Parts: sequence; C-alpha cells; structure tokens
Amino acid sequence: MHLRLLTLSIRSVYLALMVLLTAACAVEVTPAIPTSTPTPVPTPTRTPEPEVDAFTMNQRLARSVNLGNALEAPNEGEWGVTLKEEFFQVIHQKGFTAVRLPVRWSTHALKEAPYTIDPEFFKRVDWAVEQAFANNLAIVVNMHHYEEMALDPTGHQARYIAIWEQIAEHYQSYPNALLFEPINEPNGLLNAKHWNDLIAVVLPVIRTTNPTRNIVIGPAEWNGVRALDELTLPPDDRHIIVTFHYYNPFQFTHQGAEWVQGAESWLGTEWKGSSAEKQVLQYDFKQVEQWATDSQRPIFMGEFGAYSKADMNSRVRWTAFMAREAEARNFSWSYWEFCSGFGLYDLTTSKWREELVQALLPPQ
Ligand code: BGC
Repeated sequence: MHLRLLTLSIRSVYLALMVLLTAACAVEVTPAIPTSTPTPVPTPTRTPEPEVDAFTMNQRLARSVNLGNALEAPNEGEWGVTLKEEFFQVIHQKGFTAVRLPVRWSTHALKEAPYTIDPEFFKRVDWAVEQAFANNLAIVVNMHHYEEMALDPTGHQARYIAIWEQIAEHYQSYPNALLFEPINEPNGLLNAKHWNDLIAVVLPVIRTTNPTRNIVIGPAEWNGVRALDELTLPPDDRHIIVTFHYYNPFQFTHQGAEWVQGAESWLGTEWKGSSAEKQVLQYDFKQVEQWATDSQRPIFMGEFGAYSKADMNSRVRWTAFMAREAEARNFSWSYWEFCSGFGLYDLTTSKWREELVQALLPPQ
C-alpha cells in the first residue's frame, strides 16, 4: 500500500479508538471533553521592566566581586578557573550584591566580517548571566583583554563595534540587572582621545537595541583616576555608571605578580595604614568624588585588590580601608577577584578566606 494511504488508515483507526475511549471516560469523569478550543500555553517572554536610573542601579553594584580568570582567559579553564553554579550561590549567600564578569569576546568571534560570535560561547555567557539572576545578583558583562585594541584601535574598530552590536542585540530583552561595560582598561594607543571617539561610536550602536540599559564606562589609562578629566560622555545619556580601577600603591598590591615586570623586587612591601599612606588614597578618592559631583554621575570602583604574595595583614588593612573610603563616597565597588591570585575564595578547600571577606563585608 502507498505509504500515505497506510498512514491515513492508521490515523482513522486511531481516531475511532480515541472517540470510543473518550466516550467511555465521559461516563466517569465530569466535566468531560472541552467544548471550546483550549488556549495555547504562551511561550514565556520576559516582561519589559521600567527603566532604572543609573544611581539606583549603582546601588545594586554596591558590594561586588569580579569573577576573574575564567571567561577572560583565551579559553575558559586555561587560567585555572571554570565557572560553577556554586560560585554564584556562595557569593550571594555571603552578602555580595553583584558580580562583574570579565569576558574575552575577541577570541570567540570570527576574525573577518561579519565577526560572528561563536554561538557556543554566547551560550556559556548566557548561562553565567542566568546563574547571577537565579541568585539575585546583578551582573556587569564587560569586554576584557581585547588586546589588539590597544595596539591598533583603528584597524580593529569595525570588529569591535560588530561584536558589541551582536552582544547588545542578543541581550536586549534581558532584565535591567544585566549591565554592559564596553571595554576593560583602555590603554596603549587606545588613549583618551581615541577612546572618547570610540565611545561616540559604540554607545549609539548599543543604544539602538538597549535604549535604557545601564552601561559602565571608565576613563583611559587602564581606567585610571588621572584620566577621568579627559573622559567625554554624551551629556544627555543618563544611563551611564562611571568606573575606575584602583591598585595603589602598585608596588604593594602587585608585589610578586608574575605578569608585572620587576614585581619580584617589591616582595615584602607592607601597607600599615599610616596616616601618610591613607592620605594618598584619600586624595585620589576625593578627586573622583569631585568629578562625580561635577558631572552628576554614579561611580563604580570596578577593580581593586592586593595580590596573594603580599602579607595577609596588610591586604586586610588595605582592602578594608579601600572599601570603607569608597562606601563613604557612595561609590559601589567590585573586588578583584573571586578565586585566583587575589582570591577571596580558596578553590582547593571550597572555603572563603574569611579575613579578606570580613575586610570587605564587616559584620553590621
Ligand atoms: C587584569 C587582570 C589582572 C588585574 C590586576 C585586571 O584588569 O585583567 O589580568 O590580574 O587587573 O592586575
């Protein structure tokens, strides 16, 4: 028999059986058969949220931690960290309000136009974003270590913009608790002038699909305080949180850091918290505060931390002082970082380094 006819006759038998069965059931179960067409279950969509202003959103970033050395390694895992569900859970349980997620998009996108981002990598970032939300954490997704941008910003501009266009489109319907950060620590040839020019190009691209999402933007020179005065932002875009990074005194925070030339010779540098030492930091923080008041922008200290080769007492003193000084000025902060060389959390024992955590989150 022709295959289609066979199928039809099987279907007729099936239908007849169903009618009989339904009739039989109707005797016992009331009400029996729906008389109108059931309404299909709608596909879940995210309800659009009211926009959140940048100052309010910055409070969600109040006490954050960087999930460093995972997705900004050339490939996740190559720098010793593979993200796990439990990270997000313990971070939330400990009292942090948000995470900053460094992401090296540049090694996961085509080298040539249209510079498509690897869908598998996108899924991995989606997973991380969902983990943050599931644990009531806001999340800042940045672009980290696009190193070519520091060497040849003009040559890489089209690719950089195309990558952001894809990220922005992909997450356009995500909740407000997802923030974008267009680049980590612009440096090298991506100087203040070049970076301002690039902001003027990338921001409108992101705004096409994300008109009111809060975006984290920092100054040139590795997000350094000194470059804040040179940062140009569109005055009428009020959904911007301004970030800076702080690692001074550098010879203390980066002593023994393998990636910093000469850092071996700084080993043993302490931070005692003398008034002279404190004044240096306070002077810088006051400058940021003044800039924030003048420009009416909220401030996020997106990275600060002292490497594990410094002595623990100094690290604790410095970290606590930094956090309190930031809080006193309404800067939100994000410690660098969760479980690697600066880490708050020991991966080998799955335990927090309580002294450091207490420095950040003292008992109320
Ligand atoms: C870099 C890290 C580095 C940290 C402290 C971050 O911005 O991405 O690789 O460990 O700064 O130097």
